[in-house]
Amino acid sequence: MPDLSKLSPNFTWGVATAAYQIEGAVSADGRRPSIWDTFSRVPGAIDNGDTGDVACDHYHRWPEDVALMRRLGVDAYRFSVAWPRIIPDGVGQVNPAGLAFYDRLVDALLEADIRPLVTLYHWDLPQALQDRGGWPERSTAEAFADYATVVAGALGDRVTDWVTVNEPLCVSWIGHLEGRMAPGDQDLGRAIATSHHTLLGHGLATAAIRASAARPASVGIVLNPSPCEPGSDRPEDIAATARADGHINRWWLDPLYGRGYPADMISTYGIEPPVRPGDLEIIATPTDFLGLNYYFRQVIVDDPEGPVPYARQIPVPGSVQTAMDWEAYPTGLEELLVSVHERYAPNRILVTESGSAWADQVTPEGGVEDKERTAYLEEHIQACAAAAARGVPIDGYFYWSLLDNFEWSYGYDKRFGLVHVDYATQNRTMKASGLRYADIIRDHQRLGGKPEPSAPVG
Ligand code: IFM
Repeated sequence: MPDLSKLSPNFTWGVATAAYQIEGAVSADGRRPSIWDTFSRVPGAIDNGDTGDVACDHYHRWPEDVALMRRLGVDAYRFSVAWPRIIPDGVGQVNPAGLAFYDRLVDALLEADIRPLVTLYHWDLPQALQDRGGWPERSTAEAFADYATVVAGALGDRVTDWVTVNEPLCVSWIGHLEGRMAPGDQDLGRAIATSHHTLLGHGLATAAIRASAARPASVGIVLNPSPCEPGSDRPEDIAATARADGHINRWWLDPLYGRGYPADMISTYGIEPPVRPGDLEIIATPTDFLGLNYYFRQVIVDDPEGPVPYARQIPVPGSVQTAMDWEAYPTGLEELLVSVHERYAPNRILVTESGSAWADQVTPEGGVEDKERTAYLEEHIQACAAAAARGVPIDGYFYWSLLDNFEWSYGYDKRFGLVHVDYATQNRTMKASGLRYADIIRDHQRLGGKPEPSAPVG
């Protein structure tokens, strides 16, 4: 049982999703293709040949999903807006029908006393922009700021909490270097350009949101750092761990907190990011909070023959593995929160994603007794409480995810939801972990912690 008394009375409890993973309706109301519509059609790219065409059909079933969040009793809902619904060609013409969908959703959330935390980019780049070069091109960062202006102008009279970019590491390293995510590119130079342009886009969008939202905006970025530890005390493994930490953590946090790109990593890559005068100041624009997504730690050994950063993650014998083959390691969340606080001192931190996939089974009685997820949830909330007790300004926890959904290249087999989705019928079933989360939220609120409805999340 987590010690909830260590969490601030205004602690925000939430759930998170992303547009392409749940919405479906990929051709509805003027939406045009994103890079994930394209990538999911590449033979072999996605397990079972799955696509996001229907997903959880949230585009049509959102009232039911808002009702599920009410049942959970969450304070906030983190969702993403699909750029290809709003500006279907990436630049130019705005699509009012696309905006209207999020307009209705925001109104329904506020009506249900659930604060929207809106992510502008969760990986669904309009394909038309990819056709012009995508994130390796600087113009994509500028287009992103224009899109941010449109969304903040339309929703910023009610939405106060904003995330610019989700996990630029995945966009850059997995999408452009390893090729396991859209657009499936494998080029170090383009991956480094992508990293710079996603961070630049974040800085430009931060200013755009603040300038266009009618209400004062609380703006942050979401990163997915991992604590890195050496697999042995060999000097080579210790040096490799520093490179892994550079690749996974410092490459993102250093420029965001005004230190520029780490010199040791520029020399490891042998390529400079395409920085123009003024860019580093834009990237280091002060934010209102930092969002952290945490899933696992990385135990590292030297890998001189492998790809950059010549460091490899190894399995930890005897560890608990989720259905993703990721180690369940709640202590890593406490360590991560403490180390980011000590190294960078963000004014506020939100855990914007934490969750796990397991081989859930629906029982003959129609429930899902997901004991592993329930334990995972409790242990990770306890890690937040432990970090808070050590002085980390942690203000919220968002479980990933509200619903089972399209888990990118793993398709629908990996289930992360507090709510089970039967994809054949679109039936939703609250899992035991969802019921437990609702209890935890209620218990914390009983300690006197329900936040004022008007307080910003970030
Ligand atoms: O499903 C993803 C999400 O889109 C981004 N963060 C990690 C989750 C689990 O892999």
